[in-house]
Amino acid sequence: MVKALVFLLCLAPTAYLAWGLLYDGLGPNPIEYITRDTGDWTLRFLLISLLITPARRILAKPALIKYRRMLGLFAFYYAFLHFLTYIWLDRFFDVADTLKDIAKRPFITVGFASFVLLIPLAITSTAGWIRRLGGKRWALLHRAVYISVILGVIHYWWLVKSDIRLPLMYAVFAAILLGYRLYVSFRPARP
Ligand code: HEM
Repeated sequence: MVKALVFLLCLAPTAYLAWGLLYDGLGPNPIEYITRDTGDWTLRFLLISLLITPARRILAKPALIKYRRMLGLFAFYYAFLHFLTYIWLDRFFDVADTLKDIAKRPFITVGFASFVLLIPLAITSTAGWIRRLGGKRWALLHRAVYISVILGVIHYWWLVKSDIRLPLMYAVFAAILLGYRLYVSFRPARP
């Protein structure tokens, strides 16, 4: 029941976009609105999925793990929508032009790398893939999400012109969540 509710909540930003598109609620530049909104939600879902591990330990709520896969897949879903908006409405599915743009504009290069890193993680997110790869190798592969989130923050930082407050806020959240993992892996073992 709670899981179904979380699922619906994760879909709310899509519903809001669809509603805005249907009823002219996305302002004077809907393409820019959709690109920015889906980019924001990708980063938010990545950070929320990275919050699950520390939250289960700190709050002693191991059951939170059951939401991690769904939240990670929603991050990929919004990244896909973000990429789709760009390649469809900005580049008109012109692959050569898209590749040129990825090579030419560093913030696009970094965003693209962040997106590409999420693809194998989405594919291998099932129980079958965990079994096939083995828990250790699977966990190692899924550490790519740390790089993806760092690249996502850099992507955002590089695209803003002057006011860096929002990318800075995301950078601080990412640093806390990744710093927690560093701390846990390097802290001395308890006697
Ligand atoms: C194929 C990969 C990607 C491409 C081509 C791409 C492209 C873009 C473009 C064109 C913009 C709008 C820039 C502007 O309005 O000046 C944007 C914004 C943004 N993108 Fe991406 N992006 C990609 C992947 C990602 C990923 C993986 C993330 C998150 C991890 C992300 C997060 C963002 C954020 C947060 C914004 C800014 C939103 C805002 O202004 O509120 N992007 N991206």
